[in-house]
Amino acid sequence: MRVYAIVNSKGGVAKSTNAAHLLAALNRRYPGEVLAVDIDEQATLSSYVEAFVEDGAVPGGDVFRVLTGEATLESSVLKTSIGDLLRASPLIPELQLRFPRDPKMLTRLRRSLEKSHYRAVVIDTPGRLNIEMLIAVASADVIIFPVIPSDYSVETLGSVREAIQRCYEDEDRKPRLVVLPSAFGTRQNHRSMLDEIQSIPGAKILTAIPLDENVKIRTEARLPLDPKSKPHAAFDALAAEVSAL
Ligand SMILES: Nc1ncnc2c1ncn2[C@@H]1O[C@H](COP(=O)(O)OP(=O)(O)OP(=O)(O)O)[C@@H](O)[C@H]1O
Ligand SMILES: [Mg+2]
Repeated sequence: MRVYAIVNSKGGVAKSTNAAHLLAALNRRYPGEVLAVDIDEQATLSSYVEAFVEDGAVPGGDVFRVLTGEATLESSVLKTSIGDLLRASPLIPELQLRFPRDPKMLTRLRRSLEKSHYRAVVIDTPGRLNIEMLIAVASADVIIFPVIPSDYSVETLGSVREAIQRCYEDEDRKPRLVVLPSAFGTRQNHRSMLDEIQSIPGAKILTAIPLDENVKIRTEARLPLDPKSKPHAAFDALAAEVSAL
């Protein structure tokens, strides 16, 4: 089992979009063995994945009750044609309040995932450094840090590295941090920003996901990417690249 957490404490850097299409691409590689976990109260990933629900699927529960230990993972997932989904909940902000009384919350998801049959798990997180993000970090084998062509999106790399350090200081296991350049076009300023990212010391940089308005249009319309399109091929290549890490 491999858990991929999509993490950047900066908002609007393509976390949910990458999570959705990486999930679909991983599900093409490992049909029926892939799970999406949405720990962002905005529920962007949930509302995309729910559009692909299978006929007659059991409604499932949500991530809040699994994180608090009130429900099992198996009884909470929704089956869809692009992967299973553990959906977000409007109660997610309460996790912050409950955490001091229930510190096991940090590792409960990881323990449930380890007992599951899933081969690949994709976790979407909010664009803030909070308990939801730390739970994703504490559950991950690979932390995918998306950056878009903006100076600000890479500034938070240091705080994510620190969060990993803090979550794993007493552990043997430590997740790998990889950078995913996202929504990069062919314009000169995008190319020079990509060169800058590729020279970040000590960071593994994945192949960039192209800027393409169809990614935005089709994701917002809850449609799959066109199988003949460049972004579709880019997400298949990403699924292969992260599977080989
Ligand atoms: N490859 C791409 N090409 C074009 N547009 C993209 C691409 N990837 C993401 N976008 C667009 O960028 C915007 C931000 O994406 P997204 O909602 O995935 O970011 P996020 O990091 O999840 O945001 P938040 O922090 O609010 O959760 C969206 O409008 C999305 O459609
Ligand atoms: Mg999002």
